[in-house]
Amino acid sequence: MRIIGTGSAHPALTVTNQMLEKFLDTSDDWIRTRTGISQRQLISDEKLEDLAVNAAKRALENSGISAGDLDFIICSNVVNEYITPALSCIIQGRIGATCPCIDLNGACAGFIYSLDIAESYFSSKKDIKHILVVCAEEPTRMVDWSDRSTCVLFGDGAGAVVLGRGDNVKSIRLTTTSKQESLYQQRKLEHTPFITKEEADGPLVMKGHDVFKLAVSSSLRDIEGVIADGNITKHDVDHYLLHQANIRIIDTIRESLDQCSEKFPNNIEKYGNTSSASIPILLDEMNKGSKLKKGDKIVLSAFGAGFTTGACLLYW
Ligand code: ACO
Repeated sequence: MRIIGTGSAHPALTVTNQMLEKFLDTSDDWIRTRTGISQRQLISDEKLEDLAVNAAKRALENSGISAGDLDFIICSNVVNEYITPALSCIIQGRIGATCPCIDLNGACAGFIYSLDIAESYFSSKKDIKHILVVCAEEPTRMVDWSDRSTCVLFGDGAGAVVLGRGDNVKSIRLTTTSKQESLYQQRKLEHTPFITKEEADGPLVMKGHDVFKLAVSSSLRDIEGVIADGNITKHDVDHYLLHQANIRIIDTIRESLDQCSEKFPNNIEKYGNTSSASIPILLDEMNKGSKLKKGDKIVLSAFGAGFTTGACLLYW
């Protein structure tokens, strides 16, 4: 398969570090030096589905195909207002598509997981011509906004790609390592007269140091894996697009790979961590900013709660 169009959408509200200083015991300096984040776009009066639909429409416009040409829609999402139906079903109706849809929760690695499923569809179903992947996330609704160690990290947004047939995706590697205690959120379901067990309900819990270490080691393993699969070296890669979780994680991975910062574009300063949307948003910025040339070798790499990780080598 190959990517034939990209799109993204952000909420209207910009929340700067200085705005957070007003109600949290934090500082612009701490957040910028520890994470690389200066501001983030936050959902206020929009619905996540509005962002998802806008990102999808922009990706379709960029691809030159119409919604009616889509054969499958995958939406990567961790939380939204609906338990059911899946967000992908809502997107399908609003963009005017008629194809089957599915949601996937691969946490922050959801874009790479979606690409792998799409690739399998192209390989196994010969009538599939176009697949839409939309990553739509509102992690700012998962955190406790009085917990300075988590709420400063996240932003909301949506990124999308339209995929067509081609030979541009050279390798994808996925791993899952069950490790709930480092990063999780639990919520209560509706009560029944028969429930006797204790159930937890609360905001996102994160052991930042654990996530940092896991992120660096797993990303390096996955990146080296897809590069080896593609029979190229790390120096042949033109762009490394990493999950935008923390600039220090990105820099640690870059230094371990002994690469220059130009090869590791980032936009975490503007958007914070938008979960699985972060890579397609960055990809869209690079595509629309004419930063990608035909044939450029791109490595995507992400990690998320689970612990899910994945990397992909593709040629633009
Ligand atoms: N402002 C000021 N001080 C703070 C803040 C804040 N916002 N947050 C924490 N601190 C304090 C701590 O309380 C601590 O104080 P203490 O020394 O008095 O105890 C001090 O700063 C240092 O805290 P650390 O946790 O050691 O800071 P660290 O340098 O490790 O940075 C961070 C923390 C940014 C969370 C880092 O560990 C990190 O980025 N980890 C990875 C996070 C991540 O990628 N999560 C992915 C989630 S995405 C998903 O899948 C949903």
